[in-house]
Amino acid sequence: MHCVQEVTSQIYWVGGNDRRLERFENMFPLPNGVAYNSYLITDEKTALMDTVDSAISARFLENITHGLNGRPLDYLVVNHVEPDHCANIEELVRRYPEVKIVGNKKTLQFITQFYQSPLQKNFFTVEEGDQINLGRHILQFFFAPMVHWPEVMFTYEQTEGILFSADAFGTFGALSGNLFSDQTDFEAFFLDEARRYYTNIVGKYGMQVQAALHKLNGVDIRMICPLHGPVWRSNLPYIFDKYDHWSKYLPEKSGVVLVYASMYGNTENVMNRLATKLSQRGVSDIRMHDVSKTHPSYIIADAWKYSHLVFGSPTYNMGLYYSMENLLREMAGLQLQNRKVALIGNFTWAPSVAVKAMRGLVEGMKNMEIIAPPFEINSAMKAEQEPVLDQLADAIGSSVKK
Ligand code: FEO
Repeated sequence: MHCVQEVTSQIYWVGGNDRRLERFENMFPLPNGVAYNSYLITDEKTALMDTVDSAISARFLENITHGLNGRPLDYLVVNHVEPDHCANIEELVRRYPEVKIVGNKKTLQFITQFYQSPLQKNFFTVEEGDQINLGRHILQFFFAPMVHWPEVMFTYEQTEGILFSADAFGTFGALSGNLFSDQTDFEAFFLDEARRYYTNIVGKYGMQVQAALHKLNGVDIRMICPLHGPVWRSNLPYIFDKYDHWSKYLPEKSGVVLVYASMYGNTENVMNRLATKLSQRGVSDIRMHDVSKTHPSYIIADAWKYSHLVFGSPTYNMGLYYSMENLLREMAGLQLQNRKVALIGNFTWAPSVAVKAMRGLVEGMKNMEIIAPPFEINSAMKAEQEPVLDQLADAIGSSVKK
């Protein structure tokens, strides 16, 4: 049975949810599932904005059949070719052989790479700024390369001011009947997952996100329809502001995230002692993660949110503990920058190896300032080191309050 929602008159959400998928891109945990959005415009001409993941094809196709109510599909606009959105193109062409597949040159190139069927006869290539008139609704295309893949484009519907924004402004988390963000407690349920989605999926491409945001300057956007998560019809400056911060790598909040690797609890003990000292110095909302326990995507999202990061790790096999090394390499790969950092090392017989390795990785990232000398323990912290840890807490605490 179809499950469709009205977005505006003549525009319908025809997507679906997946709460069974363990990991997005087979990498990122999905404790709250994920929504795959697709939108059907039933004007004088009909147009579908993207498709959905193969996991929910059956329901999606029922939605399309219901939404079209016997009419043909005239246009399939492909804003993004990643398979979580384009898995149903072949089936739609089988059902609607005259459909025009709308995309740019890259879109159409990627489609031919993913699909076996000869779809070229259905291709309808658009350039930046081109328009398609559906009757009452007019679609205009803005290219947004690397927000998340090179072919990505945004489609702007001029009459109602709707931006079909591909992955941008999306989030992990399935929809629970409430299609619009203003029907949800967005901050409680979606914001952390929106940040985790942005930072881990698009985080590397801040410059390109900024370019896309600038391109939209002056465009009258009254609604945002992303490919994941709720639709924005109110409070748009809120989500634009989040994207502006995230894509400029600016922290949303002054605060400290402590991240540690600990084999037998001694590095963890230092982190707990430091966190306590920071709390005593008035630092609030402290976050702490064990790299062996918490998936890096959550730690990365917190690193994007807060201004100060403390990394603590033992030496391992004459190098850095693997999970810490992986985390720091992921952060570097995603281009995290503009943070204040402190380092804590632990060694039993090879001094400073972990600290040097962490320093090297952190210094490889842009505008990362190590704000105090590293604190090191030799297997376990000793009472005589207390004043040195106090100095580190002083340095972090005063930097956070600046
Ligand atoms: Fe939701 Fe880049 O795919």
